[in-house]
Amino acid sequence: MSRTWNFYAGPATLPPPALERAKADIPDWENTGMSVMETSHRSPEYDAVHNEAIALMTELLELDDDHQVLFLQGGASMQFAMLPMNFIPTGGSADYVNTGAWSQKAINEANIIATCRVAGSSEDDGFTRIPKQTELELDPDAAYVHITSNNTIKGTQYHGFPDTGDVPLVADMSSDILWRPFDANSFHLIYAGAQKNIGPSGVTVAILRKSWLGRANENLPTMLRYATYSAKNSLYNTPPTFAIYMVRNVLAWVKERGGLAAMERTNRAKGDLLYDVMADNPDFYKCPVAEDSRSYMNVVFRLPSEDLEAKFVAESKAAGMVGLKGHRSVGGCRASIYNAMPLEGVQVLASFMEEFAKNNG
Ligand SMILES: Cc1ncc(COP(=O)(O)O)c(C=O)c1O
Repeated sequence: MSRTWNFYAGPATLPPPALERAKADIPDWENTGMSVMETSHRSPEYDAVHNEAIALMTELLELDDDHQVLFLQGGASMQFAMLPMNFIPTGGSADYVNTGAWSQKAINEANIIATCRVAGSSEDDGFTRIPKQTELELDPDAAYVHITSNNTIKGTQYHGFPDTGDVPLVADMSSDILWRPFDANSFHLIYAGAQKNIGPSGVTVAILRKSWLGRANENLPTMLRYATYSAKNSLYNTPPTFAIYMVRNVLAWVKERGGLAAMERTNRAKGDLLYDVMADNPDFYKCPVAEDSRSYMNVVFRLPSEDLEAKFVAESKAAGMVGLKGHRSVGGCRASIYNAMPLEGVQVLASFMEEFAKNNG
């Protein structure tokens, strides 16, 4: 397979073995003479792949019996609304930590449904860092505290999660779930659009603490209640079967590669490589992010001018790398280096960066 080094922020690069497996399966899957896309979601073959995807996620995250994997639709953006609908009680409120555009969207949606408080924010610093625990003003009566574990646009990431006491902790982990081992059982809800670290777009994974459902609002449409997905093993209606099949392929690859500890080793090596290039060329590359908040999934950097940034993007593309332009709202450059980006791809980028600085500095 001839592959482009793909640094898109999402949908993003997928592991070649997961793609090869799909390629082999498409004409004739499990000796059915059909692809998974053409198979009933009530068939035993589909049921097996659906449950295998759930079992792999449960195993990789070491989930306890009270935590359940759900497959939802509508992207992480739908979770911005579903979460407050289900879990902010009438007259109650929830706490949100604002670390950038995605947190802000989650806050905006919560404010449509109910009331939310901003319990911490790095807005005054241009969202270039993660607020410290001591800066948070948490409401002990909040329905939950919501964080965005990795900020895809600003390139910041939590390297330790806040202590919220008895208040349930919820995280949007769209852009860094599975990047390293962590205690998923300490969360009441984790959600993530699949299209960065889990699979293709079209499915959203949620990890729900089932006992929290006892507090959920029941007066909601069926498809907007977590309880519906929980009770029916995410098969109340037709799920995005092909996307879930691909999630199975990706998770099987993660497990085969050695699980989350192995992901972390490679991810740290990749991120360090790029941050080291910046440190070695301080007059040319600038990382706007505070050192303790730098992301190992989305590495953002500036060059001395916008013209040089445009040249960098164009020349990197000619050298076989795509997706290095920063998000349109912030400009600059960004390398998204999720689990499926091999160390080799980042080595190619790091060498290109060194060379580009030498030629243009
Ligand atoms: C951290 C984060 N949250 C939410 C979203 C929105 O996800 P979706 O497009 O699946 O709704 C994104 C998309 O990039 C994201 O990076």
